[in-house]
Amino acid sequence: MTTPRPGFDTAAIHAGYEPDSHLGSINVPIYASTTFAQEAPGQLRGGFEYGRVANPTVASLAQTIAHLEGAKFGKVFASGMAATDLLLRALLRPGDHLILGNDAYGGTYRLIASVFAAWGVQFSVVDTSRPAEVAAAVRPETKVVWLETPTNPLLAVSDIAAIAACLDGPKLVVDNTFASPYLQRPLSLGADVVLHSTTKYLGGHSDVIGGAVVTDDEQLDADLDFLLGGVGAVASPFDAYLTARGIKTLGVRMERHCSNALRVAEHLEQRPEVQQVFYPGLASHPGHETARRQMDAFGGMVSVRFAEERVAGDFCSATRLICLAESLGGVESLVEHPATMTHVSVQGSQLEVPRDLVRLSIGIEDVDDLLADIDQALDRIGS
Ligand SMILES: Cc1ncc(COP(=O)(O)O)c(C=O)c1O
Repeated sequence: MTTPRPGFDTAAIHAGYEPDSHLGSINVPIYASTTFAQEAPGQLRGGFEYGRVANPTVASLAQTIAHLEGAKFGKVFASGMAATDLLLRALLRPGDHLILGNDAYGGTYRLIASVFAAWGVQFSVVDTSRPAEVAAAVRPETKVVWLETPTNPLLAVSDIAAIAACLDGPKLVVDNTFASPYLQRPLSLGADVVLHSTTKYLGGHSDVIGGAVVTDDEQLDADLDFLLGGVGAVASPFDAYLTARGIKTLGVRMERHCSNALRVAEHLEQRPEVQQVFYPGLASHPGHETARRQMDAFGGMVSVRFAEERVAGDFCSATRLICLAESLGGVESLVEHPATMTHVSVQGSQLEVPRDLVRLSIGIEDVDDLLADIDQALDRIGS
């Protein structure tokens, strides 16, 4: 008889850790130790020798995230950008080529366009919501297709399975930060690698920075292990503990993020001050059908365009409950102006964002309070 695979929420609470055999601690202990006693030279207890190479609290978190994404292997990093940097270093060499979507987190673009371009990596920017454009951009030296879906900040949706089907050779990497594994599991759709900024929904409380990479590719996992230990872009045991604690409630939080965001998006669509609402859960969204197929619900991020930049800025300053701040995915709602905040680095590039765009990270507060805050802000700014 095979043991049934546990449900998502059960795995989020239990996978990656058994109550410890010594004292029975229910939660993974924070192993605040830089070094580990050895039985004899080179004879390790449980495989741990030095904190830059591996730590039990951090290793447990990596296993939990790998399990939730349905992956064989996982690694966690000091930040989402540290994960991006080491993953690209593991996959690319000078002379290689990468394909990137025309809407993506500004920091990812900045790293590729500055550090990796200077290293001799070429890249093409395409509209990944059209798989044929991705296929047409592939060259013999293409090693990586980097996909965000939904994208930051325009919430465009790309068909992961369709893109995977037209690639033979390049690794398909999906940054799954906006969806979280609760809503979308890219490896099951044909992706090779999944990356997270765990700073967002996985941590979930805006109190810890981190990143993760999961894959079924044993060689890639070994290469990441080598780079992690060699470079030292490791998560601290304290941060790994906080992230693991956040993950235990990922499912219930995502349910509320999604229902609140849908209500907010529908509400914003009715307001005359708003020119356009971007939310994959709206029937008006061009990626709605694809999102229905590959996601279990549509996430907590909503973006809107106003008539001009001034109105967008006024709206960001006019909300009271919804705090003007960068980042996303926490229990509290946040608002930001991508052109002057998270996406300054894409200005003048093919990824430039509209200056009248505002991005909302919808939290898990009472939705009526969020709608009331949005209404008072819209009433005050006029159109
Ligand atoms: C989609 C996406 N990927 C990666 C990152 C980078 O993550 P971190 O800030 O944890 O380095 C971010 C940060 O906002 C993001 O939004």
